[in-house]
This record gives sequence, C-alpha cells and structure tokens, in this order.
Amino acid sequence: MRRAVCPGSFDPITNGHLDIIERASKLYDVVHVAVLINPNKQGMFSIAERIALIEETTAPYGNVVVESHQGLLVDYCRDRGIPAIIKGLRAVSDFDYELQMAQMNHGLTGVETLFVPTSPTYSFLSSSLVKEVASYGGDVSHLLPGTVHRRLTERIAERNAAQG
Ligand code: PNS
Repeated sequence: MRRAVCPGSFDPITNGHLDIIERASKLYDVVHVAVLINPNKQGMFSIAERIALIEETTAPYGNVVVESHQGLLVDYCRDRGIPAIIKGLRAVSDFDYELQMAQMNHGLTGVETLFVPTSPTYSFLSSSLVKEVASYGGDVSHLLPGTVHRRLTERIAERNAAQG
C-alpha cells in the first residue's frame, strides 16, 4: 500500500484543502489526513468536529483515513509507515516556511515532502481568512463545502449570541 499524509490544522477544512486531498487520493492507495493538535491554539472547531467534517467531505474519494495527532508529524509518519507528506503551495510566500519544515522533517527521519501547486482558484484561501471574513458577515459559501459552511455559520451565530 502506497501511503501519504496531508497534515494541517483544518479549522475548518476548505475547498483548497479538499482539492489537495482529492488530487493526493488519485496518486496514492491510502491518504491519511492528520489533524495536528496544537495545545497552544484554541480553534473555532474542536478536534472531533474537524475530523467529522473532514470524514464527511472526503468520503467520496474512498481511500482517505482521518486521524488526529499530538506531537511531531514525523512520528505520526514513522508509526504508520508513511514515506511522503503532501503539502499544497499557494504562493511564493508559503515557500520559505514550507521548505524549512520539509528540510527539518527529512533530516529527522528521512520522510519526503511533496509540494502540489494549489489550483489558482484557491491560491488566496486559508481557514483563518475564511473565518475572519465570515465573522464579519462576508460570503464565503463558494470557498467551503456546503456542510462546512453551514457549521461555520452556526458556530459564528452561537459565538455572537454568547457575547450578547
Ligand atoms: O494547517 P497548518 O496550521 O498550516 O499546518 C501546519 C502543520 C500542523 C502541518 C505543522 O505545524 C506541523 O507539522 N505540526 C506538527 C508538529 C511538528 O511536527 N512540528 C515540526 C515541523 S518541522
């Protein structure tokens, strides 16, 4: 079985993430989507919610496994026999940090990182921008799967209600 991992925070998954996962799912027998837990960062969605949204939206691909992981990505890969990390590159600005992480990860365990150019449609897209625009009432419906957009709209309404 040829395996690869698409890692990230996925708070929440966007159409840009899905594009990369779908393309990876055509190249590998099994694609692991790893939701990395960052204990220092309070997300908009819990890890369980993020996993449920990813499972629902990637189900049509048929070969995607979704898991969370706290710790180093290289340990996740080693424990599961995954030789390749797939990352989407949106713009030159992504490159510096992604290259650093790729070189660090390769130095740690020899795991390879493969960069996939994002679709130009999503080159400006990030979960944090989507959350910011949506929280001010902007339309982000074309940037998210329908189910994710509904959950995000509900979550923002809950937050606004709690703040009074
Ligand atoms: O979606 P994000 O937040 O841009 O994803 C970044 C992520 C989670 C892939 C990256 O921070 C990561 O790999 N974190 C796991 C911890 C780790 O291995 N850190 C060392 C990287 S060289």
